[in-house]
Amino acid sequence: MVRDYDPDRPVPPEVRERLLEHAIRAPSAGFSQGWAFLVLESPEERDRFWAATASSPTQPDGTPDGWQTRMRRAPLLVVPLSNKAAYLDRYAEPDKGWTDRDEARWPVPYWDVDAGMATLLVLLTAVDEGLGACFFGIPGDRVPAFRAAFGVPAEFRPVGCVSVGYAGTDDRRSPSLRRGRRGVDEVVHRGRW
Ligand SMILES: Cc1cc2nc3c(=O)[nH]c(=O)nc-3n(C[C@H](O)[C@H](O)[C@H](O)COP(=O)(O)O)c2cc1C
Repeated sequence: MVRDYDPDRPVPPEVRERLLEHAIRAPSAGFSQGWAFLVLESPEERDRFWAATASSPTQPDGTPDGWQTRMRRAPLLVVPLSNKAAYLDRYAEPDKGWTDRDEARWPVPYWDVDAGMATLLVLLTAVDEGLGACFFGIPGDRVPAFRAAFGVPAEFRPVGCVSVGYAGTDDRRSPSLRRGRRGVDEVVHRGRW
């Protein structure tokens, strides 16, 4: 994850489109493809995103904190959204047969899993293209304001946001990295738990 960007280097349009073309190659349950991607590029669109989501606390005087100041330099924001209803509809079709649309049938929310897989393809493509990117969350209590700001239908839920751009000179790694990466032997169970 990269959290500072060169504000004077936009993402070339063909690279932006490649990020999105790759995103839609993600696998999806029942090939539901119940995702959507909101692409924000102009300064006005991006300002509207940051104002609506305030995804980082501002300082007492109302100015953005350091995290947000650096993140706001990203020339491109891609908001992946998931659509649970699309999955319930898809699995109610004859070849799946879950006509009761009972959510208890789902072992995990595949609508969010699939949007996450698509998001990872955006991140990997950004790295491939020599760009930096960061996935970050939109606070749950800001989602209504986010929807209102961009006319997002109620059935679509943002799973987060990906900032994209050329890395700036003031990048800060996540303090969480101090936790260290858990090793294969800690997380892999071979043959049985
Ligand atoms: C679901 C999820 C939510 C995250 N939310 C944030 C966030 O709100 N702000 C942020 O700066 N980074 C966020 N990250 C990035 C993580 O901090 C980062 O992936 C982790 O520290 C490992 O660092 P690396 O991806 O650079 O290896 C998030 C990552 C994931 C997968």
